[in-house]
Amino acid sequence: MPKETFYITTAIDYPNGKPHLGHAYEKIVADTLARWHRLSGEDVFFLTGTDEHGQKTERAAKAAGKKPQEFVDGNVAFFKELTKALNLSNDDFIRTTETRHTKIVQELFERLLATGDIYKGTYEGLYCTGCEAFYTEKDLVEGKCTIHKRDVEKVQEESYFFRLSKYQDRLINHIEENPDFILPKFRREEILNHIKEGLRDISVSRTSVTWGVPVKSDPKHVIYVWVDALPNYITALGYPSGAKFKKYWPADVHIVGKDINRFHTVIWPAILIALGVKPPRSVHSHGFINVGGEKLSKTTGVRVDPLELVEKYGADALRYYFLREVPAGEDGDFTEKALIERVNGDLADGVGNLLNRVSTLVHKNFDGTIPKPTAFQAVDNDLVAQANIAKDVDALMRKYEWNKAVEKIWDFVRYCNKYLSFTEPWKHQDEKERLATVLYSLVESLRIISILISPFVPALAEKVRTQLGQKEELLEDAAFRKTTKGKLTATKPVFLKLEMVQEDPFSMLNLRVAEIKDVQPHPNADKLYVLQIHLGKEHRQLVAGIKPWYKPDELKGKRVVVVSNLKPAQLRGVESQGMLLAAEKQGVVKVLDASKGEPGEQVVVEGIAPKQAQITIDDFAKITLTTKDGKAVYDGKPLKVKSGEIVVDLPDGAKIR
Ligand code: MSP
Repeated sequence: MPKETFYITTAIDYPNGKPHLGHAYEKIVADTLARWHRLSGEDVFFLTGTDEHGQKTERAAKAAGKKPQEFVDGNVAFFKELTKALNLSNDDFIRTTETRHTKIVQELFERLLATGDIYKGTYEGLYCTGCEAFYTEKDLVEGKCTIHKRDVEKVQEESYFFRLSKYQDRLINHIEENPDFILPKFRREEILNHIKEGLRDISVSRTSVTWGVPVKSDPKHVIYVWVDALPNYITALGYPSGAKFKKYWPADVHIVGKDINRFHTVIWPAILIALGVKPPRSVHSHGFINVGGEKLSKTTGVRVDPLELVEKYGADALRYYFLREVPAGEDGDFTEKALIERVNGDLADGVGNLLNRVSTLVHKNFDGTIPKPTAFQAVDNDLVAQANIAKDVDALMRKYEWNKAVEKIWDFVRYCNKYLSFTEPWKHQDEKERLATVLYSLVESLRIISILISPFVPALAEKVRTQLGQKEELLEDAAFRKTTKGKLTATKPVFLKLEMVQEDPFSMLNLRVAEIKDVQPHPNADKLYVLQIHLGKEHRQLVAGIKPWYKPDELKGKRVVVVSNLKPAQLRGVESQGMLLAAEKQGVVKVLDASKGEPGEQVVVEGIAPKQAQITIDDFAKITLTTKDGKAVYDGKPLKVKSGEIVVDLPDGAKIR
């Protein structure tokens, strides 16, 4: 019998920068599911990758002063590094700039032109470059896209259209006949209502964009980025005739974020039906990760680098935290403190400690050899009953309720620790038979645990398994038996407790050079100015209390230092997106002079890496900056840009804030 297949994909990420925590979360979820199905003996194909075309990428490349291909190549390296760092078991990594992809996208576009599913017309619409998507007035709030909260652009151009309207009824039928098509189920209604409101044909090409896949028969048009991106799920398998396509399609599940559910449950199945290809079995939308209650965002600087986190705490820690703490389908929050607490409790104390205690006792009493069990008492039989959870866990995993699966497994880990405390084997050293049964039962439980946890925390699972002297097994082997044999290797901690890495408080600060472009008096305050500044490609507004000391003309064009990651605040009714740094001594105030820096450039103190995460004014107040020898200093060290130091024309010991 050929094995059952399981094809799972993630969204393909925009490589406009380095990967963020949301990207990491989704890949961890998908990897765990892929590993679970492999553990169940299925033939799994797990795909991830990057979505590299489109206007947003084109613009980001330009801002970085790079050619688009060079720009994405640089960033994709980080996404690939992340797959390794997170211990992902992906079978392939597709890039939409690869010929294996672009060639097929062109062909399928031609095919849809031939069937009349794609036709030429004129598009006039409101486009958000953040989303790479067109919106109607009713999608917007105060004229802005709800995701990026920025103005949309009115665009009119010749365009090809996909006849989405034609598929309205077929999509409704498909969703109604396939209750697992849209998961979690609470997302179904929203999509059904959206379709029932009436689907309009969608524009699927652009003449205003150059960074994309040209339409083969009309190359001044570039294929709309979503119609380029979605087919990655089939181009990677060699659609239309590749062996992998025949073997693995339709996908069992696309794991995507809730923001792109609609693209996957409306547009994508319609394209597939038009091509005569079956839609995927399920689309599962996960929730969003916030950091300390704040949304991840490039503009506000709320960003945590998953590569840095893995470096600090290891892949298993991050995997476990996300899988356990974020309920499937819902949003979740991340803080390092919560990660450390959760992981220390469940991995170091829970699994690690259990193995440590058991292994020590087996070495002490049986020379490391797994003892043969004798008679089972009621307490042992209870443990056996608790150990046989593989089926329940499997059912949860197949319902995509991975956080509940984790809970169930760790309930058993806790049970084992209780059993150990209750049976007190260290008190029965002279009752070898009893001891043998208790320790056998614990080793056997740990063997089962090592199998069950392997998709979630693969590195830890592997360490437990090898310390127990066991070979790799499948899910079907995660049942309590009385015949396990083997010799334990030396007792070694398998998971060291994590500690909060103490960082220099200065690393919280993100200081950058800004050029002052405009200075206006604050409408409601005598001492304040409202400044318009340039931080390289970014424009911001600041409110600064320096009016008594500077005339507007003395400030215009000046290069100064700003705290760029301060939480925006309303100062007397005007928003300030950061803070201008100035020094004060004996009633004289001078702004920091960054004339040697370029607008947007990072201001650093040697040996301290600045972070991106947003800080509050209270955080800032904890950091003491002062002056020495006409320079701005932190802890005696000068604040610097590439070509020099930040100067202040004030005596030593001035207070900078
Ligand atoms: N390129 C498109 C997807 C095309 S799929 C054919 C895209 N890219 S993205 O880089 O913006 O997002 C990639 C995935 O990360 C999406 O599934 C998105 O929902 C997810 N996340 C983005 N931010 C997230 C969080 N803050 N939290 C969790 N996942 C989030 O969309």
